[in-house]
Amino acid sequence: MSAFGTGHVRIEGRDKVTGAARYSGDISADGLLRGWPVLATIPRGRITAIGTETVLPMPGVVAVLHHGNSPRLVAGAGWTDPDPNLQLLQDDRIPYAGWPVALVVAETFEQARAAAMSLPVEYEAQPWDVTFSAAHPGLYTPQEVNLHQPSEIAHGDLDAELAGSSVVLDQTYTTPEEHHNAMEPHAAMARWAAGRLDVVDSNQGAFAVAQDLATLFALDLSQVRVRSEHVGGAFGSKATTRPPAVLAAMAALVLHRPVRVVLTRRHMFSLVGYRPPTSQRIRLGADPDGSLRAYEHITATQTATTFEYVEPAGIVGKVMYAADALRIGHRVVRLDVPIPKWMRGPGEAPGSFALESAMDELAQMCGADPIALRIRNEPLLAPGSGRPFTSRNVIACYTEGARRFGWDARDPRPGLRREGRWLLGTGMAAATYPGETAPATAEATAEADGSVTVRITAADIGTGARTALTQIAAEALDLPPERIRMLIADSDFGPAILAGHSFGTASWGLAVVEACTALRARLDDRAERPFTVRVNTADQVRAGGRPERHAFGAQFAEVAVDTASGEVRVRRLLGVYAIGRVVNPLTVRSQLAGGMVWGLSMALHEEAVRDPASGGHLNANLAGYHYAANADVPTIEVDWVDDLDLANPTGIKGAGEIGIVGVAAAIANAVWHATGVRHRALPITPARVLSNPPGIVHA
Ligand code: MOS
Repeated sequence: MSAFGTGHVRIEGRDKVTGAARYSGDISADGLLRGWPVLATIPRGRITAIGTETVLPMPGVVAVLHHGNSPRLVAGAGWTDPDPNLQLLQDDRIPYAGWPVALVVAETFEQARAAAMSLPVEYEAQPWDVTFSAAHPGLYTPQEVNLHQPSEIAHGDLDAELAGSSVVLDQTYTTPEEHHNAMEPHAAMARWAAGRLDVVDSNQGAFAVAQDLATLFALDLSQVRVRSEHVGGAFGSKATTRPPAVLAAMAALVLHRPVRVVLTRRHMFSLVGYRPPTSQRIRLGADPDGSLRAYEHITATQTATTFEYVEPAGIVGKVMYAADALRIGHRVVRLDVPIPKWMRGPGEAPGSFALESAMDELAQMCGADPIALRIRNEPLLAPGSGRPFTSRNVIACYTEGARRFGWDARDPRPGLRREGRWLLGTGMAAATYPGETAPATAEATAEADGSVTVRITAADIGTGARTALTQIAAEALDLPPERIRMLIADSDFGPAILAGHSFGTASWGLAVVEACTALRARLDDRAERPFTVRVNTADQVRAGGRPERHAFGAQFAEVAVDTASGEVRVRRLLGVYAIGRVVNPLTVRSQLAGGMVWGLSMALHEEAVRDPASGGHLNANLAGYHYAANADVPTIEVDWVDDLDLANPTGIKGAGEIGIVGVAAAIANAVWHATGVRHRALPITPARVLSNPPGIVHA
């Protein structure tokens, strides 16, 4: 009997719901101090004075760290690229509003907060620009977009194909600045003990954080330990080292006491990455039957003055549709804003809103069914590389989704279905996300009692990774899951890829299988216990190359639009996915549904508004930054189709990000079907609906 593919409740579920599970902000130590970051209130300039003498006499205050007195940090830390956000309290320069200018350290959280609120900071402001626009004169073409992918991809003669197309779409779609708000804010506790830096930190990859801290503090990696036993959501915001770990370690170094730093919601709006706004122009040229001849996707977006992260909204075009000519491009402008970074489905989430809305518009223009149009443009080879896919089961997602949703009975004409003051409509969109594998180290130990302990620097950020890895180990060892002890999230366990890019379960799972298989093979001829096997999959992963391996999906939405208030209510969401082998249907379903909820939130609610006058946000809190809550979330159905793909021998593709991809387009397409009005700007707020009155249907 296989443990793989069977629903299993989270191993740590009881601990979490009873409060026994300890998160980074919960873990205490003797003599613990609390640090509170003080953030810059101007977006560009210099610090001219910090009034430490005002707050040092306040109750409980122990120290105020700032650029004039803090420990010097070594430059160059950062995962994949040096991250200037880690060079904290090193100089007087202000690169954006919300940059930490000081850390107030006190005996209690409240004392630290009170002193931080009272700390006088004087600035010399310089002229700033925080306003993104697709017409910004500072836009330039970057060499690369996220993770060193080419910014420009082109083949064929786009102009000629557009000129020869009988149907041409040319539209611009916009998405706003969107921000991370995981349930657990970022938190870290650091202490120096016996020459070793010991950090408990909320992150997606303890090993990478340990590496960064070693670099910053000029330590040998063996002198740093980072643990993150429980993480309450992350979504990319905790993928890399964030200021709490660095600030806590700096303060602990200076004060010789353990220090905890927990971010507030307002802190999170500038310090943990965000999805930058995009303006995406799409031009599609097609024959009358909808066959694509020309496909162009040009994204304009913003980045920071200190770091060039470029949201790769165009990369969906490397995977989705065949066209005789393809052109993908990105433009970016450096503004005096925080550094944008990964947020669930970076690239695919905003990019699919534009592309999958455009495909719906093209279907309308060609008089084609949206699913039939997509199937007509299925590529034989990956459009971006010309290489074959390891598997591509998107048609099965369309077919199964259409069957379950009742798509075939749909009248494609918009604006016809009325229920009292509500207009009803349905829409769909495709989804895709890479299913890649990265190296990891795993160690399996046969214990004297016949159980097995597995150690791997994996992170369970709420996904159920700990449980899935236990099931994977159980299958490889042919033991019941109860006989496995899965220890994760400790940098002492060795290098392993972080829980990002939907890498986790496939990458750690492969290492766990290798370690457990090796252990099992050698158990019979070794009598002594404990007996340990350690593996690293770096060579194996490298030998596998970087194949065109992708997960796919089809998203379906039914909406009701209130013609009086402009409110959009989602009534039903259905997602059908091809995500390789599913280890734990229970937690995978939750993860995909969670992504779909965020897609709903992206479609209808989320928008951070920047104030050009102050350079900061007008709504850096959960009162002003709206996101979907329980009452907004309708029945969500999640399912998957058979998707055998052994490019990773475990067959796992990963399900972390694909759930959000395409959902906003499916909802926008359903709003069009309900009202006859096309919304090309997210979020589709009541104000936007009312400013484009529904019911006016253009033929
Ligand atoms: Mo995901 S945005 O790569 O953590």
